[in-house]
Amino acid sequence: MAEREMPGVLALRKLYEDEKPLQGARIVCCTHVNAQTAVVIETLIQLGAKVRWASCNIYSTQQNEVAAAVAHAGVSVYAWKGMQESDFWWCIDQCLEHDNWHPNLILDDGGDATDRLLNRFPSVFNGLKGVVEEGVSGIHRLHVLNKNDKLLAPAMRIDDAVVKCKFDTVYCCRETVVEVLKKAADVMFAGMKVLICGYGDVGKGCSLSLKSLGAQVFVTEVDPICALQACMEGYTVVQLEDVIDTVDCVITCTGNKHVLYGEHFNRMKSGCIVCNMGHPYMEVEIKTLKSINLTWQKVASLVDHVIWPDGKFIVLLSEGRLATLGNCKLPSLVASVTASTQILALIELFTAPPNLYEHDIYILPKKMDELVASLHLSKFNARLSVLTDEQSKYVGFDKKGPFKVKTYRY
Ligand SMILES: NC(=O)c1ccc[n+]([C@@H]2O[C@H](COP(=O)([O-])OP(=O)(O)OC[C@H]3O[C@@H](n4cnc5c(N)ncnc54)[C@H](O)[C@@H]3O)[C@@H](O)[C@H]2O)c1
Repeated sequence: MAEREMPGVLALRKLYEDEKPLQGARIVCCTHVNAQTAVVIETLIQLGAKVRWASCNIYSTQQNEVAAAVAHAGVSVYAWKGMQESDFWWCIDQCLEHDNWHPNLILDDGGDATDRLLNRFPSVFNGLKGVVEEGVSGIHRLHVLNKNDKLLAPAMRIDDAVVKCKFDTVYCCRETVVEVLKKAADVMFAGMKVLICGYGDVGKGCSLSLKSLGAQVFVTEVDPICALQACMEGYTVVQLEDVIDTVDCVITCTGNKHVLYGEHFNRMKSGCIVCNMGHPYMEVEIKTLKSINLTWQKVASLVDHVIWPDGKFIVLLSEGRLATLGNCKLPSLVASVTASTQILALIELFTAPPNLYEHDIYILPKKMDELVASLHLSKFNARLSVLTDEQSKYVGFDKKGPFKVKTYRY
């Protein structure tokens, strides 16, 4: 079913079926373990690669049956639902070193496989053809490595690919935030007061979705440009402290550390839902909630009531980790957009002539961004217009693209 909804990935299989550009590639994929990634894994293999697969988060194996099916087909998969932190690292280590098999490419989401390889097998890391990273937290880690001259392989960040941030992130969050909250807390959004922390791509998607269902949306921002965008969309931009004791739900979307902490939880009203849609695990400071005064009561899978001695409680989703991993399924169509960028980035790094990419962090070339978008248009029976010779000359863009300058912001 996922495959049918992933037109971009299927198109790439066809495009490269004869060429097999990944012949000789040994890829460790540290990503979500779900049906959509299984389609990616199959595609990488069809394009010539050998692949090992682990999950990028203890909650990111959603479908054991998918992992089992891929393993049954002969791929080394180290992932299962309900794994513990120690299992998680064991799985990554198996991918990186079992049977003396070492990767020459990494497909990472969050930077754990990259970090582990660098620290445990620096010589293998030095021989990498490249790292493709999806997660903002992983990019942050790559930048730290780069700054300290420790990034000894080229890296391509796909979080910044236009097709990823403007499609996957915005539209995916717009749809999934409702599923996450409905499933976990059986709520009605009309009239609900919701606080969205961070009005970037994730925040924009979540806000729009909840506003359209009648919720009263408040936004916090540190960046005046994003704050002004929120104002112009009709949201009330506030400081967190102004509204934390009145809202029914807080959704963190900043990618930042400890956006919700100690005093905030104490001030929340009883029944307030805490949902993290941003950084995989850092936005909600869990240590305070684990204090001995508070009791945790599991009310559903990945839904806990954290209860104060006076009976007040908050509803915590996915223990403050990314709720879209634990509490819902991602739509395959948007996953196809991201997956296509991942596959193209891997091919680009693997087949690039020596020295084209230095030990630095790159974004996906615009031409590929446009290719990924074009591969998904057929799904909508959309027909592109074509520049005339005169128009092409006038605007200064080739008829086959790229159609915008690098700095265009869409
Ligand atoms: N849930 C999902 O499915 C999903 C999808 C894509 C990305 N993400 C994750 O969500 C996070 C945000 O991604 P994005 O693409 O929206 O990033 P972004 O940079 O576009 O937006 C984050 C916004 O938060 C603001 N911000 C930072 N610290 C803040 C603070 N303390 N208070 C208020 N605002 C603050 C920033 O100014 C920025 O505008 C990242 O960690 C990313 O990995 C989640």
